[in-house]
Amino acid sequence: MIKDIQSTVVKNIPVSVDTYLMGLNCPEISEIAIPGQFLMIKVADGLDPLLRRPYSISGIDQDGNILLLFKVIGKGSSLLKNKDRGEKLWLLGPLGRGFDLSERSKKHILIGGGIGIAPLLFLSQLLEKKEAEYRFFMGFKTKKDVIPIDFWKLNKAHIDISTDDGSMGFKGSCLQLLLSTFNKMDLEDASIYACGPPQMLNDLLNIPGLKSISVQISLESRMACGLGACRGCVIKGKDGYLRVCKEGPVFPSKMIARIE
Ligand SMILES: Cc1cc2nc3c(=O)[nH]c(=O)nc-3n(C[C@H](O)[C@H](O)[C@H](O)COP(=O)(O)OP(=O)(O)OC[C@H]3O[C@@H](n4cnc5c(N)ncnc54)[C@H](O)[C@@H]3O)c2cc1C
Ligand code: FES
Repeated sequence: MIKDIQSTVVKNIPVSVDTYLMGLNCPEISEIAIPGQFLMIKVADGLDPLLRRPYSISGIDQDGNILLLFKVIGKGSSLLKNKDRGEKLWLLGPLGRGFDLSERSKKHILIGGGIGIAPLLFLSQLLEKKEAEYRFFMGFKTKKDVIPIDFWKLNKAHIDISTDDGSMGFKGSCLQLLLSTFNKMDLEDASIYACGPPQMLNDLLNIPGLKSISVQISLESRMACGLGACRGCVIKGKDGYLRVCKEGPVFPSKMIARIE
């Protein structure tokens, strides 16, 4: 059931370059949200900006607060950055289709590029609860862009970090890191979950060995309503147009031809 409800900011702290971790108290949403779902957030009172901004739910903390991980890139996110503890924020959510864990995979591989780790951190929390085996490949530009994830208290995670310039972890992209690890892993019964820049996701979809296994990707698009009504967020799928906010944002890779 989608709620349009006011939440309270319980924390808003910088965690990396232009990247913030926000905690929101809103049990009505946190108790029903599943990994991969998102919120439309009204970032200011009044009409400017008019449109709410979409953000993935990045986890739930030990007090039941919603966690958001957001990058400051424009007007809306700059306003979010300045929210103080105790301020109120209107949320619409939880929205969209999340990750599907129903396939009986024994091995889960998470691949996140930059801020794309946000929805995957929530998925990690669920996998930990299920005591599932998983491996998380994270890629960033440089060491200073690496987002610390201590806050999520992931005890069972096997995390591999790459940076483009090699200033931390493996030198190269997280896909190169994945491929360098490939032959060490039995992928037959694996499921892959990915979120990141379009180029990274296209490269992932083009890895020949992955065609036969389950790959779910979380996509972004500019959004207006977030509810499937305006068709502002459509992308071209293999069999026609898809609304990212309604049929997604998580899609099985077989539905997607190319990510723009
Ligand atoms: C389902 C979904 C989940 C998301 N989850 C997260 C998240 O967890 N953390 C996070 O930091 N961001 C996330 N985003 C992206 C986030 O919604 C945008 O960064 C935000 O709306 C930007 O608002 P703004 O007002 O700051 O920027 P604007 O002023 O609106 O835009 C600034 C610039 O960024 C570009 N831009 C804005 N939004 C997008 C977008 N979605 N894709 C590509 N370019 C864009 C604009 O074209 C413009 O050039 C998500 C988007 C979607 C659709
Ligand atoms: S944002 Fe309106 S249909 Fe997706």
